[in-house]
Amino acid sequence: MRIILIFAALITSILVMGAKISVSEPMSNTPSAVDGKKIYKQYCVTCHGIYGDMGASGAANLTISKLKLNERIEVITNGRKAMASFKALLDKEKIKAVAQYTMTLKPE
Ligand code: HEC
Repeated sequence: MRIILIFAALITSILVMGAKISVSEPMSNTPSAVDGKKIYKQYCVTCHGIYGDMGASGAANLTISKLKLNERIEVITNGRKAMASFKALLDKEKIKAVAQYTMTLKPE
C-alpha cells in the first residue's frame, strides 16, 4: 500500500512538472513577436558574419562589443561610419529585437 502511495505521489509530481514545463516553454522561446535572429541573418551577416566576428568592411566585432542595448539600438538606427542606417528598413521593434540578438553573440 505504501509503495502505491509513493508511486502515485511520484506520478503526480512528474505530471505537475510536465505541466509547468509545457506552460513556460513557449514563453522563453519567444522573447518578442519579432525574431531578431532572422533579421540579423537577413541584414547583418554580410558585414558582421553569422557569429558576429567576421569584420567585413571594417565591421565591429559584435562578440566583444561593450555597447549596451540602447547604444546598439542607436548605431543600428542611425548608422556609424561604414555601417548604414537601418531606420528606413526596420521599424523600432525590429531594431530592438536585432540589437538584443547581437547581445547574445559571444566569442567561441
Ligand atoms: C555594410 C556593412 C554592415 C552591415 C550590413 C551592418 N553593419 Fe554593423 N557595423 C559595421 C561597421 C563598419 C561598424 C563599425 C562602425 C564604426 O567603426 O564606427 C559596425 C558597428 C556595429 C555596431 C557597434 C558595435 C560596437 O561595439 O561599436 C553594432 C551593434 C552593429 N554594427 C550592429 C549591426 C546590426 C544589428 C546590423 C544588421 C541590422 C548591422 N550591424 C549591419 C558594418 C555593417
